[in-house]
Amino acid sequence: MDADKHIHERLSELEEQIREYDYHYYILDQPLVSDNKYDALFAELKRIESEHPELIAPNSPTQRVGGGALEKFPALQHSKPLLSLDNAFSFHDLLEFNRRLNKITADLEYVCELKIDGLSIAVTYENGILKQAATRGNGIMGEDVTQNVRTIKSIPLKLRRPIPFLEVRGEIFMPKQEFLYLNQLQAEGGGKLFANPRNAAAGSLRQLNPVITANRKLAAYFYDVILIQGYELNSQIELLEFLKDIGLPVQKSYVKSNSIEEVYEYVQANETDRHELPFEIDGIVVKLNSLHERSKIGVTAKSPRWAIAYKFKAEEKETKLLGVELNVGRTGIIAPTALLQPVPIAGTTVSRASLHNFDLIRDRDIKIGDTVLIHKAGDIIPEVIEALVVMRTGEEEEIKPPLECPACGSAAVRLEGEVAYRCDNINCPARIKESLVFFASRPAMNIEGLGPSMIEQLLKNDLVHRVEDLYALDAQQLSKLDNMGIKSANNLLNAIEASKSKPLACLILGLGINLVGAKTARLLAENFLDINAFFEISEDDLLRIPEIGPKIAASIVNYFQEPRNIESIRNLINSGVNYTAECNRLTGILEGKIFVLSGGLEKYSRLEVEEMISNLGGKISSSVSTKTDYLILGDKPGQKLKKAQELGITIIGETELEVILNRTSMSEQPELL
Ligand code: IVH
Repeated sequence: MDADKHIHERLSELEEQIREYDYHYYILDQPLVSDNKYDALFAELKRIESEHPELIAPNSPTQRVGGGALEKFPALQHSKPLLSLDNAFSFHDLLEFNRRLNKITADLEYVCELKIDGLSIAVTYENGILKQAATRGNGIMGEDVTQNVRTIKSIPLKLRRPIPFLEVRGEIFMPKQEFLYLNQLQAEGGGKLFANPRNAAAGSLRQLNPVITANRKLAAYFYDVILIQGYELNSQIELLEFLKDIGLPVQKSYVKSNSIEEVYEYVQANETDRHELPFEIDGIVVKLNSLHERSKIGVTAKSPRWAIAYKFKAEEKETKLLGVELNVGRTGIIAPTALLQPVPIAGTTVSRASLHNFDLIRDRDIKIGDTVLIHKAGDIIPEVIEALVVMRTGEEEEIKPPLECPACGSAAVRLEGEVAYRCDNINCPARIKESLVFFASRPAMNIEGLGPSMIEQLLKNDLVHRVEDLYALDAQQLSKLDNMGIKSANNLLNAIEASKSKPLACLILGLGINLVGAKTARLLAENFLDINAFFEISEDDLLRIPEIGPKIAASIVNYFQEPRNIESIRNLINSGVNYTAECNRLTGILEGKIFVLSGGLEKYSRLEVEEMISNLGGKISSSVSTKTDYLILGDKPGQKLKKAQELGITIIGETELEVILNRTSMSEQPELL
């Protein structure tokens, strides 16, 4: 009896603690504990629940992915129509909007919010418990996507207050990096690519199997209350603060503006800065602050009169397609790249763009010599949207799929169900080169000085054929290469030596297994702890990890069934490369440390920095707070730097960051920490 009571108490204590940590992590963006501590609590909760399934609460943090696949989404009628917004495209349109309102009210205080480019969602809570989630649909009828919305970690299953009834509206979206990662997986698996994060979010939310949605890492921000019982709200600012307070995610860039001129300043500032955000926005929503004044002003059949959406111009440019280059990747995929007349777009000059595959070239009817429209997918990756067919001269040249590999001349094959053409020769020099480049790259074994041109030289001089050969190189061999003295040869050898103590996740990533990116590599390292565990692994063993789906599992098993791969790994182990997760603990030296990155760095992308820091147990947060340990000074410090200075936070540059990362990866205690 006592023991039962004890278990009960421990369960609710764990649930509450995890909820509190989730609130600090997802809503306040100020993690309270390290990932390890969080994972340990979560594992304890799961363990107790599996021993006492009768005690599992339907809203326990472990119960996000429940129920099986649906046949279709049931239709739902919204309790109140979900309205849309009128659009503004210029300062003139904003002035008109201001003038219309000014006729009805003198209280022209506005709130400006980012217009998140995602899908509208209405979520209902009863007594603080998530009951229902519906897509907007046509505004009157939507689809019941409750099962899938429950899998979104930033949406709480239980609010911090038991409000009798609450229906909120918000936006579900896919962060840019997640979109790029998903498309990379789709490309590697030969699947269809999503055109932009919004389509990817829609495609992910409308999956009949909630396990797939859970794997897609969607996020949400809320911005409106449709119905509420037991509380009275007076203004938009109060509403947003209230939502955050009860545990819902709210985007925090909103501001109060006292004039339409101030509104326009906010619009302009965000139009330029939007590329810095981790998610896509397509404009600014301007709302009257006072809810009382709003009710006086009213709504039309389609949209409220008290709000307007200022839409940014889509960043699309015209340029000429000069040619197409074929590149063979490490998995053999022959990828077409467009060579473009250079053109500035979304903050950089673009001269190359991925064409992804030959089906896409055919479907978009793209020819060499065409004037093409380009944009940046996910605000990052340049892409050809379409060919401007009306501008053709008749001189354009068709782009044909390859019959053979451009690097080795072997037949180019197209596997069933895949869109990609592949070189199927595992000895193809281009594939070998790319595998080596990938192995030595920063997110993998991070061997400084071993970039594409050095690898090319090593291959040309017959010094390496496979990754394990790197560990047999000596100074004498290296010093014979172009531009290589004894000193640089020794530097390279030191870097190769240092890579031996990289965490297991980096080694797994470096192997270049199809579909295994950094996140999956980390999961594999955490779950299996030793590379030897993979030699006999089955798909079932892998599918026990919720984030790993059947395609990835099959690809991993496939990789470890290839005797050549096993031989390579054994050779790596014999050369002294770390192959267990033991080393992770030694190198988890940034455990609990929180970094904030301000703008871009010279050598590393945000994703790379994030990966390197999290490999060592640290975290990157998007805003500066008292919990921040380091501000990494990038090219656009702005407000973050000011805040960090005010709070007395240690500010480091790129070089100091490298010192921290390199020192820690050799498991030394860095002075800076
Ligand atoms: S307010 C009645 N605020 O933009 C209030 N909408 O073009 C209606 N959206 O359907 C919405 N961010 O899906 C509002 N901060 C924001 C928003 C936002 C994105 C979307 C929403 C709406 C569409 C209108």
